Amino acid sequence: MIRQLRKILPPAVRSRLRRAVARVRGLSNFYERVYDRQAAMLDPAESIGGGDFETIGGIELALLRLEGVKPGDTVVDLGCGTGRLAVKLIGYLGAGKYIGIDISRGMLREAARRAPAGGCTVEWKHQRTARFDLPEGSVDVICAFSVFTHMEAEDTYRYFVDARRVVRPGGKLILSCLPFSLAHSRTIFVQQAGLDLTDRWAGVRNVVTTEETIDTLASWAGWRTLRWYRGDRPYAPDVPTLQQSVCVLERPG
Ligand SMILES: C[S@@+](CC[C@H](N)C(=O)[O-])C[C@H]1O[C@@H](n2cnc3c(N)ncnc32)[C@H](O)[C@@H]1O
Repeated sequence: MIRQLRKILPPAVRSRLRRAVARVRGLSNFYERVYDRQAAMLDPAESIGGGDFETIGGIELALLRLEGVKPGDTVVDLGCGTGRLAVKLIGYLGAGKYIGIDISRGMLREAARRAPAGGCTVEWKHQRTARFDLPEGSVDVICAFSVFTHMEAEDTYRYFVDARRVVRPGGKLILSCLPFSLAHSRTIFVQQAGLDLTDRWAGVRNVVTTEETIDTLASWAGWRTLRWYRGDRPYAPDVPTLQQSVCVLERPG
């Protein structure tokens, strides 16, 4: 009966129906499923990738400071994970605001548990789509460390578009990625190429890109590339690398 009904429906209605059914079944967000599974299965320190929790958070804060983030600012930590940056940034922002966003409720719970009690105003947001639940121009900086490294280019573009709405003119989007220009990325790429499509997407996968791709998607979304920090050397004399290149975008005034 339902099958017959589907046949006579116009394609646009059929497609809307398919999406509604997928939503009801909880299948609509692929990334959410993958990350929630990872958050549930692994130790919190491991579920967000390798490296020492404290050290990585320290490098991320140092990078933000290098890019002019100061006490009083409002900063969105997109893909905040289990709080590596949150534990450093919340104290630093003083009278400002930290907004930790993640697609996984499990990650958010762990980040909130680890966050320091004092410090700036803090908000945690579970976000399942590329639409930020934030007013236009309300944020100084959005950062996304090791987030676009696991996303297809089309999704990256979708996030770039709404991030531009949320960041004030002159504000920044600071993101890390894995460009082919890094030897480290090429190793990761070959590892991923050893898996077929199903296995590659069975868990959190690493997506290798190019600087040109990121610059192009950013400019299509209305951003201006300010600079790149290469991931195969220290970002600054006293700021070690995260083994990923970092792109700094500015919302034109
Ligand atoms: C590799 S972890 C990095 C966590 C954190 N940024 C850090 O440096 O410690 C990636 C995080 O991004 C989150 N994430 C992935 N895709 C996302 C999306 N589309 N929206 C929000 N969060 C996302 C994951 O749930 C995970 O917590």
